[in-house]
Amino acid sequence: MSAYAQLLEAAIRDLEERKAAGERFIAIAPETLSALTTSQSVPTPARTQPAESSTPAVRSTSTPRASGSPPRLPAIRSTATPLNAPRPVAAPPALPLLNITAAEKPAAFAALRERALACTKCPQLVTTRKSVVFGTGDPNAQLMFVGEAPGADEDQQGEPFVGRAGQLLTRIIQAANLSREAVYIANILKCRPDTPLGTPGNRPPRPEERAACLPYLLEQIQLIQPRVIVALGGTAVEGLFGQTEFRITRQRGKWMDFHGTPVMPTFHPSYVLRAEEGPDKGRATKRLVWEDMLQVMVRLEMPISEKQRGFFK
Ligand code: URA
Repeated sequence: MSAYAQLLEAAIRDLEERKAAGERFIAIAPETLSALTTSQSVPTPARTQPAESSTPAVRSTSTPRASGSPPRLPAIRSTATPLNAPRPVAAPPALPLLNITAAEKPAAFAALRERALACTKCPQLVTTRKSVVFGTGDPNAQLMFVGEAPGADEDQQGEPFVGRAGQLLTRIIQAANLSREAVYIANILKCRPDTPLGTPGNRPPRPEERAACLPYLLEQIQLIQPRVIVALGGTAVEGLFGQTEFRITRQRGKWMDFHGTPVMPTFHPSYVLRAEEGPDKGRATKRLVWEDMLQVMVRLEMPISEKQRGFFK
């Protein structure tokens, strides 16, 4: 078999594995794309665009920012892994290729929402959900929060983080002088994970549910292009990065990279609520979360008052 045929076979195998794992989009470096399309002897692979996406064809995208703020991250980042390269275990899933102008963004966001609201990929969750909890906030937000999955309150109201944990998240956002309307809040799973009939509480999303839902989150991120993402809890980090084990107690507070977007992993607000039952009433845990938020504020070049610096000390 020729070297080319071997490469092609490896690329096809890689694509098939990704598809089987639930990936529906691939990122391709612009130079790879142009090499594939200009070479006479090399047939173009069957799929270079998102297979099930209704997103339009390649153009550059950028959303106007307030003056003085750093420029937007490009929609297609040239750091994309070549298709046939071995993938590091902790590599985040490829971002979808989105090629839209700023003017097209609201319609693309609305179309994505419509697709998510009509999703039936997890038949069990379709029968138990009241709502598909797509996300809330500003689609042009600089700061995005990613949680785990809707609970009962969120399922009822169709909005993420509105229950007790959500109210705590809202207070954290407000402590940073922001509002829920100024940031974007979403989950790695858009439907409430079902629990046996009559059983209270929540369960974490299953790997196959995460994989089925991830493309919606990836497209949300790609459209919003936040400057910083805060991942709330280990499950959110695992869902976002496709990792199987993330130790939030050891790894929170350390910047991660999601295709060029900095990600701050911190404790889930529910964890903080549980810590409130401890002897210090959760003060130490709150301080850690707040220190993570201070890092986020520094990264976003937000003003920080002395009072803010001292919260929960
Ligand atoms: N916990 C989450 O992770 N997400 C929500 O929307 C609510 C609670």
